[in-house]
Amino acid sequence: MERFIVQHTEKLQGTVTISGAKNALLPILAACLLTEDTCTVCDVPPLTDVLAMVELLRGFGAELFFDPKEQKITVQAKRIFTTEASDETAGKMRASFLTAAPLLVRMRSAKLPLPGGCQIGSRPIDLHLKGFSAMGAENKQEHGMVELWTKGLVGENIYLDFPSVGATENIMMAATLAKGTTVIENAAAEPEICDLAVFLRKMGAKITGDGTDTVMIEGVDSLHGAVHRVMPDRIEAGTFLVAAAMTGGNILLHNVREEHLKPVIAKLTECGVQMELTKEGIRVASKGILAPVHIKTMPFPGFPTDMQAIFMSLVTLAKGTSVITETVFENRFIHAGELKRMGADITIDSRSAIIEGVEELTGSKVRATDLRAGAALILSALAARGETEISDIYHIERGYDHIEKKLRALGANIYKEE
Ligand code: EPZ
Repeated sequence: MERFIVQHTEKLQGTVTISGAKNALLPILAACLLTEDTCTVCDVPPLTDVLAMVELLRGFGAELFFDPKEQKITVQAKRIFTTEASDETAGKMRASFLTAAPLLVRMRSAKLPLPGGCQIGSRPIDLHLKGFSAMGAENKQEHGMVELWTKGLVGENIYLDFPSVGATENIMMAATLAKGTTVIENAAAEPEICDLAVFLRKMGAKITGDGTDTVMIEGVDSLHGAVHRVMPDRIEAGTFLVAAAMTGGNILLHNVREEHLKPVIAKLTECGVQMELTKEGIRVASKGILAPVHIKTMPFPGFPTDMQAIFMSLVTLAKGTSVITETVFENRFIHAGELKRMGADITIDSRSAIIEGVEELTGSKVRATDLRAGAALILSALAARGETEISDIYHIERGYDHIEKKLRALGANIYKEE
């Protein structure tokens, strides 16, 4: 199995370009099923999750061409000859469920694997189904599959018990071609929701309120093709900001939007890290002396849960006691065990982690348990004394485009071993 071998690294220097955002791209690719016209999406990194979505859409009958060099995908769903996805194509990626709405709208049916739980939580879809039921779709769940069908979707007022990103995206897509108007209350406001809404508006959808807790969608008769450059990945950007902080480095990030990173920048500033917004991007510098912080993950505009593991790595080296509270997922501290193998001092108490800063971490054999936990381990490995071997790196490659190459270009001692 492939592994990352990482040696202690100091003072990352240079410039890194942030790739297109996985969590905007996946719903946008699913939305291409809403029209028979050709859609073009630019700034598409060749992530394994992107390749999985390409394979899934092809399985429904869409024609896709992905040029990994150009980082461009064209999608034409002129013909959909099945609305059922098998477990092997759809089961490995939870975001496959984002095709439920476009299939329901276009073909009035969908049959997809029930997204299983994963390391970080049970990952239910009750809010997605609540929205679809309110709009006139029935569903049944058996043998690990969820089947949906409708005589036609009708606009409705839908209140989300939790501002779920995926449920907001699925309901928003379903509402674009429903009869009448849909209002989603307590909607998720993540930047990825806004990027999907921008793409849907380019296709002719009538959506307002995206980026707030109330999104209104007026159903239209049809949608047409569109061209879109996907937003930069705010979590990849946050990962590189923390990489500079942990190695006492000084790097410039290209292709970032500061408004997507406000909670991360605020917390890094509290840690004593200097950041400067320049016309080329964000410059981050650190002398490697880090102050402890208290963090509580919240839906946007709060501190993003996807940055929680990465910040836990950071504060293991802070001068004092930090507390991290995870409010979004019920089991997202698995990385703490791997960090403790490297000498971190972490105590978990239900939804909170208490981290006592230590003088240094030491290289060890560790395992990536999920995408962001894997990224966190890479950063700890750069800061640690000695060599670290990280296994199960397929998790990391789901959401980071050749992270080891980008880090090596900044001076990091990291390479992939087959
Ligand atoms: C998206 O997942 C992201 N994935 C996740 O990123 C991210 O952590 C998450 O949003 C929160 O920001 C993609 O966009 C592909 P949710 P999603 O529905 O949509 C509960 C990464 O590392 N919930 O907002 O699945 C759920 O249990 C990944 O890139 C329900 O109760 O997240 C969880 O506790 C990890 N019922 C909370 O909401 C539902 O029907 C947040 O889930 C749906 C969700």
